Amino acid sequence: MTGGEHFVLSGHIVYTPDKNTFSITENGYLVCEGGHVTGVFATLPERFSALPLYRYTDCLIIPGLCDTHVHAPQYAFRGLGMDLELIDWLDRRAFPQELRYADLAYAERAYGQFVSALTQSATTRAAVFGTIHVSATLRLMEMLEKTGLRCLVGKVNMDRNAPDGLRDPEPDEALEQTEKWVKQALSRFERTRPILTPRFVPSCTDRLMEGLGELQRAYGLPVQSHLSENVSEVEWVRELCPWAESYGGAYARYGLFGGAAPTVMAHCVHPTDAEFDLIRRQDVLVSHCPASNANLSSGVAPVGRYLDAGIRVGLGTDVAGGFDLSIFRAMTDAVQFSKLRAHFMGMRERPVTLCEAFYMGTKGGGTLFGKVGSFEPGYLFDAVVLNDHRLKAPGALSIQERLERAVYLEKDVVIEHKFVQGSEITGGVPE
Ligand code: GUN
Ligand code: FE
Repeated sequence: MTGGEHFVLSGHIVYTPDKNTFSITENGYLVCEGGHVTGVFATLPERFSALPLYRYTDCLIIPGLCDTHVHAPQYAFRGLGMDLELIDWLDRRAFPQELRYADLAYAERAYGQFVSALTQSATTRAAVFGTIHVSATLRLMEMLEKTGLRCLVGKVNMDRNAPDGLRDPEPDEALEQTEKWVKQALSRFERTRPILTPRFVPSCTDRLMEGLGELQRAYGLPVQSHLSENVSEVEWVRELCPWAESYGGAYARYGLFGGAAPTVMAHCVHPTDAEFDLIRRQDVLVSHCPASNANLSSGVAPVGRYLDAGIRVGLGTDVAGGFDLSIFRAMTDAVQFSKLRAHFMGMRERPVTLCEAFYMGTKGGGTLFGKVGSFEPGYLFDAVVLNDHRLKAPGALSIQERLERAVYLEKDVVIEHKFVQGSEITGGVPE
């Protein structure tokens, strides 16, 4: 099937319209028109009978998954350096690897592997960090564009506390290069969009932050960064920005923290009360990256509190702080680690449910990309067809039970088809 965009899928349709509800239609019909969801129906209304119908009998059909935080250049060293804590890990693993993307031939090989893996996963949308290198980042965007996935990609900005070769030039020149990259990205790509990416506060001088804020306002771009991830990092930011009321306040000062600037902040493990309030008031999307937070000894984010406060939360793999590109894995990690947090907090906080985790991995994170992550009418048609027939059971299971097992036992589940905005992704390796 090509980008027909008017068609019907039939199968067992599952999505979460809100964080506490699995909507399930057994042997249902999911109608796509013009790249949007028309609706889910138990029987197919007559008015759609002329549309092509693709039967995925006894398969599960779910919204495409959203990865709200992933580092493309770090995919190459995933699973290494996992005994280090954040700052040492950056110095000894992440930065030396990212230096290599000055070499376009290396970048092509490494990004080819990343893009191929992302294409074959259940993820349909991702917010992606590149490196400081403009050429390599544009090449990454070109590769992603060809897959049909819809991604936000950032040329990383950093002009302090990084090794030689991995710092932007002095701020005005860095901003000029960043603006050039933004213009090229906006004109060359349709599905792959630029997102401003100050790496994190310790990496960016005030002048660089100020200029990025100006670029944000000039081009109306979204913003991605890291926030309150690790205790020693939070302490470092306090020393660097004694004037800021909170770590988040150091971004907010430059207009890089929600409000008019759609913003996703990864981690948010250690919010102060002031920062928690700022996240909520500014409608910042929290990208919860449970695996990375465990691997880099950062902690466990208070996800239940964020959800209960009505704060938007999505899931991120944070490869290669996380070693797995799977958002299904991020869902189960979110549930499991929240139970450990609840336990060690003497049950003063509640764990999150699988339904909430599924919601964060679809509709919660989808808010970064528009009306994404649900099968409610008007949503962009991102869908994944899962075949779980290898997961044998001695008795009958409900559709919800099958979905739960598919999330936990994903290694035995086959992704049969993937659609993004009504177009099928065929999973070929881009040239
Ligand atoms: N903080 C600044 N840079 C990074 C990064 O690459 N990964 C993680 N996990 N945290 C960061
Ligand atoms: Fe990260």
